[in-house]
Amino acid sequence: MNQEDHFKQVISHAKEYGFVFPSSEIYDGLSAVYDYGQLGVELKNNIKKYWWKSMVQMHENIVGLDSAIFMHPTTWKASGHVDAFSDPLIDNKDSKKRYRADVLVEDHIAKIQGKIDKEIKKAAKRFGNSFDASMYRETNPRVKGYVERIEAVETRMKQCLDDGNLEEFKQLIVDEEISDPVSGTRNWTDVRQFNLMFSTEMGSVAEGANTIYLRPETAQGIFVNFLNVQKTGRMKIPFGIAQIGKAFRNEIVARQFIFRMREFEQMEMQFFVKPGTEKEWYEHWKTERIAWHTSLGIPESEYRFHDHLKLAHYANAACDIEFNFPFGFKELEGIHSRTDFDLKQHEEHSGKKLQYFDPEINENYVPYVVETSIGLDRTFLAILSYSIQNEKLEDGSERVVMRIPAVLAPYKVAVFPLVKKDGLPERSREILNSLKGEFMCQYDEKDAIGRRYRRQDAIGTPLAVTVDHQTLEDGTVTIRERDSMKQYRVPSTELSKQIREAVY
Ligand code: GAP
Repeated sequence: MNQEDHFKQVISHAKEYGFVFPSSEIYDGLSAVYDYGQLGVELKNNIKKYWWKSMVQMHENIVGLDSAIFMHPTTWKASGHVDAFSDPLIDNKDSKKRYRADVLVEDHIAKIQGKIDKEIKKAAKRFGNSFDASMYRETNPRVKGYVERIEAVETRMKQCLDDGNLEEFKQLIVDEEISDPVSGTRNWTDVRQFNLMFSTEMGSVAEGANTIYLRPETAQGIFVNFLNVQKTGRMKIPFGIAQIGKAFRNEIVARQFIFRMREFEQMEMQFFVKPGTEKEWYEHWKTERIAWHTSLGIPESEYRFHDHLKLAHYANAACDIEFNFPFGFKELEGIHSRTDFDLKQHEEHSGKKLQYFDPEINENYVPYVVETSIGLDRTFLAILSYSIQNEKLEDGSERVVMRIPAVLAPYKVAVFPLVKKDGLPERSREILNSLKGEFMCQYDEKDAIGRRYRRQDAIGTPLAVTVDHQTLEDGTVTIRERDSMKQYRVPSTELSKQIREAVY
């Protein structure tokens, strides 16, 4: 199955089994807004728990926070979001489609990269074992030309973004002869900046309503609470504050399912450090975070680091952890060395000191910050798209199985009576009741046992327990594993221990 078909399967599977629904679907949905169904909410909660446990529970020097979505409007002036949180957009006059100008250029670069890959593949076939791809890249005139062209386009785009030169940005699109993928024409408007924050009004108009924003990141709630948490928690630097919560962005191009949404959730951690040590901590958190991803059992080859070409206004180093989504490697998490930018800005705009007294050096300073910021919905999509697999079995039949990491699976165990009579349903329910205080369990007695196994495979339940006539005689049950499809008998009294070992 190709990548595009796989992505279609992911979206339809997510809907069919109650993971993700388009928001307000009966009214034809709302663009780039989604609801999580009965299985989706379990998977999402499990991702949150897994992140919270590793970031907060496992670190003595990291504590949590749950700050409000609405914040004083000056927050966003101080953070730079009112003036600088915008994307360059461009419209095609024929298709009337709107694009992010930088995404158009990045897609154009990807096309040139595709040509390089094609040339190298062709040459590898021609030269066989003796082929040296990196040498070919450096010496083949056509490939060299493509590489130089990519470098030139990247440099020019970076310059445009750094200078905020939108005329030059348009000229780059014209010079590169980039056409609209829908209309095929090059009939473009000028490039304009578009602020991504949603605004609303607080208070009635009679009272004099204030424009406030729906937060575009959770991080600012952490910054403005830095001293509250540091003082009440008696935190010593280095320490972190973690938060999970909703964020809102009026994305210009909202596509690719739950990858780019207008309402989404972030899991962020701001780590406050002594100035001058931030680069060390930046490296530390890069290592920690990639280890977190791979601890889920998804191969390391599905992830890669990507250093930022253009640093955000607040950063002195930044990278993304990208995941191999069905539409290619894209950002899943950002790791940013944010300097003392945010705390200093809030000091300036609030007139309040946001400093730390360091007893080791007897000095006050504004701490530097290293941030890890991961999208919950993107993590969900990464898990979903990696875990849905179509498997051909030895007997020639096929199954769709979701190899969701067991710790994240919505249901940990399903309990089935082999048949719907002879007291087996009653015994099964007794077993289910003994397990459900500890694990999310599902009971199913409909259809043949094989079909019930398939239903659980399709929603990622790692274990199924079958109660049969032997259970009534000797108290043993059959455990069937989702991934290996192996079956073995265990005493029902040992079920809780066995399941715990398999799923946590
Ligand atoms: N506080 C830093 C910050 O917000 P970001 O790189 O803009 O940094 C962090 O966002 C993460 O939030 C991204 O890596 C991505 O996973 C997620 N994210 C950002 N915009 C999103 C959107 N429109 N839909 C879904 N997830 C998004």
